[in-house]
Amino acid sequence: MRYIFLVWIIVVGMVVGIAGFQGDKTRRTPIELFPDMDRQPKLRPQTANAFFQDGRSSQLAPEGTIARHSSWEKTPENTGKVVGTTNFVSTIPLPVDATLLAKGQVKYTIYCAPCHGATGDGKGVTSKLGMGVIADLHDHKGRKLITAADGQLFDTIGQGKGLMGGYGSVLNPQERWAVVAYVRALQLAKLGSLDDIPNAERASIK
Ligand code: HEC
Repeated sequence: MRYIFLVWIIVVGMVVGIAGFQGDKTRRTPIELFPDMDRQPKLRPQTANAFFQDGRSSQLAPEGTIARHSSWEKTPENTGKVVGTTNFVSTIPLPVDATLLAKGQVKYTIYCAPCHGATGDGKGVTSKLGMGVIADLHDHKGRKLITAADGQLFDTIGQGKGLMGGYGSVLNPQERWAVVAYVRALQLAKLGSLDDIPNAERASIK
């Protein structure tokens, strides 16, 4: 036991003798155990640096960035609600045209179809993998989703609902409205009747 103690003192003495105490001044080259930690190729905030073209280490936020919690415009386009109320707007507050629908189809196929299925029947691939209770967008809870305000669907897409997570981080408001429009198209495709088709086109249907 005594020897171990002695050896320990000698070893510590040697280490200090060779390496010195931290902060000691010496003319010899210091021993660097982790040179990449002593000299890191990192940018210090708020200083000049040649790495970026504009010479700043801290880059400006991308154009159009808004601060979290800042009061961004509470328009129906952004919130899906009637200004100053908590009521959902009943119809999509953007012009619905073929371009919007096409965008909606792309986004729906990426972000919704895996669960809700390509036709919206709730039988996407995840249902086959065991995920239960995926809403049937045609006939969920007594057709509530067919009569639901467009703003409510917009809200569900952005914030999620019940077991479904929100997609607001990957779909901007315009894309969410596009998905709403596409969901409406899916519903119409299944539930529409001959009366929904303009007279002029009816002949070509049968
Ligand atoms: C990971 C699977 C999943 C994805 C992806 C998904 N959903 Fe859902 N969705 C669900 C589930 C599960 C429910 C049922 C939630 C509940 O009732 O608790 C649901 C419910 C809904 C409802 C009904 C909400 C209500 O009022 O009852 C709507 C509308 C809906 N989803 C639309 C969408 C749209 C549009 C997308 C694409 C942007 C989407 N969902 C993506 C799983 C998903």
